[in-house]
Amino acid sequence: WPRSARREQGVMTIGGVDVRDLVAEYGSPLYVYDEDDFRARCREFKAAFHDADVFYAGKAFLCGAVARWIGEEGLGLDVCSGGELALALAAGVDPANLALHGNNKSTAELTTALERGVGRIVVDSFEEIARLGYLADRLGRRPKVLVRVTTGVEAHTHEFIATAHDDQKFGFARSTGAALEAVRRVLELDQLDLVGLHSHIGSQIFDTDAFEVAARRVVELLRAIRDEHGVVLPELDLGGGLGIAYVAGDDPLDPKLIADNLRRIVSRECESADLPMPRLTVEPGRAIAGPGGVTLYDVGTVKDVEGLRTYVSVDGGMSDNLRTALYGAEYTCVLASRSSAADPMLSRLVGKHCESGDIVVRDLWFPADLAVGDIVAVAATGAYCRSMANNYNFVPRPAVVAVRDGAARVIVRRETEDDLLRLDAEVGA
Ligand code: LLP
Repeated sequence: WPRSARREQGVMTIGGVDVRDLVAEYGSPLYVYDEDDFRARCREFKAAFHDADVFYAGKAFLCGAVARWIGEEGLGLDVCSGGELALALAAGVDPANLALHGNNKSTAELTTALERGVGRIVVDSFEEIARLGYLADRLGRRPKVLVRVTTGVEAHTHEFIATAHDDQKFGFARSTGAALEAVRRVLELDQLDLVGLHSHIGSQIFDTDAFEVAARRVVELLRAIRDEHGVVLPELDLGGGLGIAYVAGDDPLDPKLIADNLRRIVSRECESADLPMPRLTVEPGRAIAGPGGVTLYDVGTVKDVEGLRTYVSVDGGMSDNLRTALYGAEYTCVLASRSSAADPMLSRLVGKHCESGDIVVRDLWFPADLAVGDIVAVAATGAYCRSMANNYNFVPRPAVVAVRDGAARVIVRRETEDDLLRLDAEVGA
């Protein structure tokens, strides 16, 4: 739950605002962000990585307000599409504080990045290296480039969000020599300024070992690059991926612990390879945006399936939180609008979409008197919920509200049916 979340006689407040007032004012479903929680996590990363750069991974959740918060807290911003880049530029983020990622960046995306002076471009394929070299030449630019490397680390997380094993689409494999070949090709192009390597092993990771093994392996590569090309690369970007608590038992990684371990390992490995300590960068997304976000839903139907469980349906579902359906993700939720002394009943929190996989929380105990009109709050939905929201079944995407010091304001407005219809070539206005 967000750090400012409180419960008094069952009623939840976030940032000093009563969830009943939030739903009455802004409707349901509603994403609520505790601004102080978000900012505090930015500061904790900055403090832990005081001698490194922290780039917030915008894919976790991005909007104008978030771009401003991270700027004010001194973080850079990672973007991985033309859309994220456009938002960042529109929000006034200094392009020098942006890094552009992606395994299939378009010519248009690369061109915008070059024209606007994006600080780092993380190259991910041989085609891209050639294309970027050509575009940089044509536009008279010399971008700073990192080569994305896959280290072969098997991160213990869901297959879809692990990214450093060999059999997946990202980066250049260390094991096959592709990484060294990519470095050679970038070095060949005068228009590209190779500044370092990038490694991201996956997401929602709890074990520090995976990060440490990856760090050791990229330093080995730095050494191989020095030995082969006589080039000492000054930067090492170790990606994001720190896990957060979704349910009891999840033990989030402490940024300070990770920072200290990574610094120690990289400096020890560099020392033994006779390399200078590179400047480190990390790219946390979930660990900054996740914990401070909550989704509020209105309960619409309560259906007891005799002898099995009670299905509690809310007014959203897999359109505003795809993670349960996609990854089997687990969440914590509570009745947030009143207290109840009723016995617990085995329940499943489900959405309003036309498929039975439309589950928000698979197994939980709600009080047996849960009823239509109650408000349910789901914790830790700040990362990869709004950013992965969709319009399945023509359901408009919810508004996003930021709360702080007893006040709330909309930071992303609710989509309307008109917004959806507008795109249609026949019925759109
Ligand atoms: N850097 C790179 C290059 C990444 O690909 C990612 C996430 C991050 C940083 C941030 O990772 P984080 O600190 O947020 O774990 N949709 C999935 C997560 C996909 C993450 C993709 N890349 C989910 O909902 O769990």
